[in-house]
Amino acid sequence: MRAIWITKSGGPKALQVREAADPQPEPGEVRVRVAAAGLCFADVMATQGLYPDAPKPPCVVGYEVAGVVDALGQGVAGPAVGSRVLALTHFGGHADLVCVAAQRVLEIPTGMSFEQAAAVPVNYLTAYHMLFRVANVRPGERLLLHMAAGGIGIAVLQLSRTVEGLTVFGTASAAKHDVLRNEGCAHPIDYHTADYAAEVRRVTGGMGVDVVLDPLGGRDWRKGLKLLRPGGRLVAFGFANLASGQRRHPFRIATQLLGVPRITPLQLMDHNRAISGVNIGHLWGEVAMLRDELKAVLALWEADTVKPRIDAVYPFAEAAAAQRRILNRQNVGKVVLTP
Ligand SMILES: NC(=O)c1ccc[n+]([C@@H]2O[C@H](COP(=O)([O-])OP(=O)(O)OC[C@H]3O[C@@H](n4cnc5c(N)ncnc54)[C@H](OP(=O)(O)O)[C@@H]3O)[C@@H](O)[C@H]2O)c1
Repeated sequence: MRAIWITKSGGPKALQVREAADPQPEPGEVRVRVAAAGLCFADVMATQGLYPDAPKPPCVVGYEVAGVVDALGQGVAGPAVGSRVLALTHFGGHADLVCVAAQRVLEIPTGMSFEQAAAVPVNYLTAYHMLFRVANVRPGERLLLHMAAGGIGIAVLQLSRTVEGLTVFGTASAAKHDVLRNEGCAHPIDYHTADYAAEVRRVTGGMGVDVVLDPLGGRDWRKGLKLLRPGGRLVAFGFANLASGQRRHPFRIATQLLGVPRITPLQLMDHNRAISGVNIGHLWGEVAMLRDELKAVLALWEADTVKPRIDAVYPFAEAAAAQRRILNRQNVGKVVLTP
């Protein structure tokens, strides 16, 4: 099999495609011949040595794949060999063959391409889980979403359309604002040229928002908390502020870590605010919950309510260019890798 290896923590240039013996499915596992694999921001951070959950290099990362089942381990009844599936891989997904526990594999609907299917698991699970389980968004509320034009951002926008009267503010570079509006973002904000908090306050007449979905971290969590109305919820789900450019920047990392708000339950109580966290990678054991949420997303795809937006597809050999596209903030939607 072929896989994309992070040879050391050195950014995209440390990536290499290597050959190895084909993996054999263990009891309870399914082997998938991968047609497309999702590239996540976490994979990009792992390549820079900024993602503590990732295995130590040399390693193969990758949380999600789509392809065809080509072998079953002992005791596995299905999905049958030949089925078109998507799968959640706890690393190791950036390979042309992966073995994964059968419960983490789901058949994909007829008509869904492998590229689209590879863009579903992480983005749509995270978006669905945050909106409907953790933030429990209600009709008529206001929501602020950061990294709105990324893979998760677009998934949040599409799912938000199922909630009547939900108004979304989204931060992204100006060139991406037309796409955001088309996806249902009422107020795109270019955070490069405007203070997004001031802009939210201006548009809402100083009221702020009910929900902030924040994958930036550090000082932005602080700003987000201050924007919450009584009853508001901040969902922390990433720390992209640690990544900047192609390499690690220790000073920037230290400043961002110092910017993390230190809040007590008493303060939350007095301000009627909630802070929650979501890390889908740490929900790996909650198979039933994840399967239910994924099935709900696939049903929305079949109803034509959501449609993963593929930004670009890169062959494995160009994995470094795929990562640079994200690091250089060029992507609108999901970046996908194909063997
Ligand atoms: N907690 C979880 O379970 C979970 C799961 C998946 C992802 N995440 C997190 O969610 C966030 C979004 O992930 P994603 O896969 O949707 O991202 P993505 O598609 O890779 O989005 C990248 C875009 O984000 C914007 N951006 C803002 N700050 C950035 C920075 N410091 N470096 C690079 N780009 C930056 C850029 O667009 P603009 O120029 O328009 O801003 C860039 O094009 C990440 O922080 C990721 O770690 C969390």
